Amino acid sequence: MKIGIDKLGFYAPHLYVDMNDLAKERGIDPGKFTIGLGQDEMAVPPVTQDPVSLAANAADQILDEEDKEKIDLVIFGTESGVDHSKSAAVYIHQLLGLNPRARSVELKQACYGATAGIQMAKGHIALHPDKKVLVLASDIARYGLNTPGESTQGAGAVAILVSASPRLLELESESTYYTEDIMDFWRPVYSTTAYVDGKYSNEQYIAFFQKVWKDYQEQTGRNLEDFAAIAFHLPYTKMGWKALRTVIEDASEEVQERLKNNYQISTKYNRNVGNIYTGSLYLSLISLLENQDELKEGDTIGLYSYGSGAVGEFFSGKLQPGYKKHLQTAEHQAMFANRECISVAAYEKVFEESLPTDGSEKQLNIDEDPAKICLAGVKDHIRSYAAK
Ligand code: CAA
Repeated sequence: MKIGIDKLGFYAPHLYVDMNDLAKERGIDPGKFTIGLGQDEMAVPPVTQDPVSLAANAADQILDEEDKEKIDLVIFGTESGVDHSKSAAVYIHQLLGLNPRARSVELKQACYGATAGIQMAKGHIALHPDKKVLVLASDIARYGLNTPGESTQGAGAVAILVSASPRLLELESESTYYTEDIMDFWRPVYSTTAYVDGKYSNEQYIAFFQKVWKDYQEQTGRNLEDFAAIAFHLPYTKMGWKALRTVIEDASEEVQERLKNNYQISTKYNRNVGNIYTGSLYLSLISLLENQDELKEGDTIGLYSYGSGAVGEFFSGKLQPGYKKHLQTAEHQAMFANRECISVAAYEKVFEESLPTDGSEKQLNIDEDPAKICLAGVKDHIRSYAAK
């Protein structure tokens, strides 16, 4: 039985900052951001969007009534959940009107959470082939104003529907993974911004890639030529290339060209959104599928997932017949076209806006946010959401 990704939705907030503007304001050469990191724009979430509403907007794009009835497991991968106890999946379950006979749970391992969710979803579908699993990958990446990580912030969510007979990508059973306790990026429960050892995190991302890629080659006998493309977790779009270039010379010139070209295409959306932590790899996959017309049914796509702390995984999937018809390309392009560029001063103001933490009431103005589903306010420590 084939099991894999049946649908992919993506949502980013409607505001963004131009990285040239941010560089100028911070007294940095813009080339450092646009070439050195490979980032052109950074999504900025208004106070009316949190990881729950971002994910709800991404999922709302792809689910029909039959999906809502058949989903009996909701897995929410996030580094920036809104509650230490209640899972974001339960909020989503209600907001989307899913069948109540479902399991709902939140998973955390930095940017790796959604990959763990997808692999669990695959096991669930193997046991219950007539059901579907909704995996959400939603995060707001916050390092703080004027920090070295600021240029790698971002916000957005990817919704992934996993089922039998998938229409986009069959997930293959071969997969290699690796865990090691390291402190490259973390966020203690009392902190709203991440702590990071930037250079070390880059090194470990590459080292974990080399380990899981070597294991994958040994396990499967496959080489780079077996892949039409490889999508990477992209904290910033240069990062995946830094890992890929350490192994690419093992391949022929032709294969190198193909992987390099497809890598560039897989970074297109991420360049304009920034890091969305656990959704970044899947945003890169969407970018590849929606922007590369030369991919064919049966092509193998490699995926490298990395979650600081750290867990890495290399796995793969096969493109399904007619997959292009089931992408949300027009919707995603319209979403990018309708975003609003704001000044650095406006971004700083939005960044510093916060919700009360003393139980007092705050109603938010959702009229300025074009999203269908918004965070509407908070009262008695309870968030309320509105669907327009
Ligand atoms: N024109 C072109 N390029 C320029 C330039 C210019 N004018 N000025 C600098 N550059 C280049 C530098 O040469 C460098 O390139 P290389 O890395 O290829 O050598 C690049 O721009 C970045 O410059 P620096 O290394 O000096 O930048 P920095 O010290 O400010 O740190 C960073 C960059 C470590 C990524 C920092 O932004 C950071 O800490 N980000 C958060 C952590 C992160 O994203 N880690 C990635 C791996 S961990 C992970 O993947 C999990 C996750 O999602 C967090």
